[in-house]
Amino acid sequence: MAIERTFSILKPDATARNLTGAINAVIEKSGLRIVAQKRIHMSRREAETFYAVHKERPFFGELVDFMISGPVVVQVLEGEGAVLRYREIMGATNPESAADGTIRKLYAKSIGENSVHGSDSQDNAKIEIAQFFSGNEIVG
Ligand code: CMP
Repeated sequence: MAIERTFSILKPDATARNLTGAINAVIEKSGLRIVAQKRIHMSRREAETFYAVHKERPFFGELVDFMISGPVVVQVLEGEGAVLRYREIMGATNPESAADGTIRKLYAKSIGENSVHGSDSQDNAKIEIAQFFSGNEIVG
């Protein structure tokens, strides 16, 4: 499988509980490499842009409010089949359905406060990475 990059967010429920290192340990143990990372507080506009695809969903307002409720850590992860690999180790969106050992099974509080985001395709990974990182901030 080809070396790819994917975009990751450690969400406010994770930073609030000081889980940044614990989640990064799961990521690194999986073979993925953290090639860019920064802790930011997203603006409402940034969160609305990032989740624009969910604009019509009933949970959109709640999702945006949550994502700007505290700091997040945005990351670029690199490795073989990184998009799929990260989705595997994140586990299902709803932690109740997530497999044992996945980040969401271990740490997520609910479907909304689910600790991590990962890109769902290579095309979206490129778009999401470009929203938060410039090329020289990514060091593989
Ligand atoms: P994420 O992978 O960041 O992509 C969209 C997010 O919407 C998802 O994770 C969840 O955190 C959130 N989400 C999905 N379904 C619901 C829901 N029913 N209620 C609240 N938030 C949701």
